[in-house]
Amino acid sequence: MEMINLAANKKIPIAAEIVENLPLSDDIYKIILNGQEAAQKAIPGQFISILCKDLVLRRPFSIANVEGESIHIIYKLKGEGTEYISQLKSGEKINFIGPFGNGFNITHQKALLVGAGVGTAPLIFLSKELTKKQIPYILAAGFQKSVDIPELNPDKDYIITEDSSSKYSGLVIDHLEEIINTHKPEKIYSCGPTPVLKYVVEIANKYNIKSELALERKFACGTGVCMGCTIHIRENNEIKNKRICKDGPVFDGGSIVW
Ligand SMILES: Cc1cc2nc3c(=O)[nH]c(=O)nc-3n(C[C@H](O)[C@H](O)[C@H](O)COP(=O)(O)OP(=O)(O)OC[C@H]3O[C@@H](n4cnc5c(N)ncnc54)[C@H](O)[C@@H]3O)c2cc1C
Ligand code: FES
Repeated sequence: MEMINLAANKKIPIAAEIVENLPLSDDIYKIILNGQEAAQKAIPGQFISILCKDLVLRRPFSIANVEGESIHIIYKLKGEGTEYISQLKSGEKINFIGPFGNGFNITHQKALLVGAGVGTAPLIFLSKELTKKQIPYILAAGFQKSVDIPELNPDKDYIITEDSSSKYSGLVIDHLEEIINTHKPEKIYSCGPTPVLKYVVEIANKYNIKSELALERKFACGTGVCMGCTIHIRENNEIKNKRICKDGPVFDGGSIVW
């Protein structure tokens, strides 16, 4: 199946050299790999699919940043695949394909970026692009406990932890309305677990703000063939099946039928 997918997507696996692979907390890591031309093509909200040793299914990860030819990934230890990635050392090779997906539709509107856990990863890349385009933004990121992500600035960003190890405590959604009332964003970009995203859309609707969400679900093929990641999207008064891996992972928050 993989050969068919690769042909359909005209993507060739890249054996990328690992530049760095370091823990940011006890279960969150950051890996930087030499993504070659894939790095130059990537836009925020897109993901790459990593081959984890002999596991049949590649694991999808959002691009957390791009610097020159380097691709940054921030990942949480979950199971066999992420455990394998965490053991890799600088100088070793990692096999990935990508970038895949549509990415965020960046508009010139004051933005609020809402990330929960490793869902913050694509928003870091987005924040870099917004800065380049001189679009003002506020970033709010929620974690269970303290995570040392150098791209986040505690003096500027809202870093919210459930264990109260940062200035703001609780869940990121606990602070959402206060942040909206203070900063009056015109658009919300978000990524994280489904309950967080549902709440973000609810609040965005309440304040009449457009929202774009990067969805994360279990992928099988990850390239649009198996239909294993479909969701319902409202489009022109019709409910349509869309594949998160191929048609997304970014969707207009207001169009998602949860
Ligand atoms: C578009 C997209 C972007 C993602 N970006 C990130 C990221 O930036 N950082 C990060 O830590 N995680 C991210 N994830 C989740 C990540 O893919 C899973 O945590 C990872 O695949 C788990 O693999 P595992 O072998 O360690 O765990 P296992 O639980 O052993 O995985 C078993 C199977 O389930 C799939 N799977 C398990 N959990 C998830 C999940 N939450 N989402 C999708 N597939 C899952 C795996 O691909 C695999 O096929 C993303 C998922 C998607 C769909
Ligand atoms: S995971 Fe196969 S179509 Fe999306």
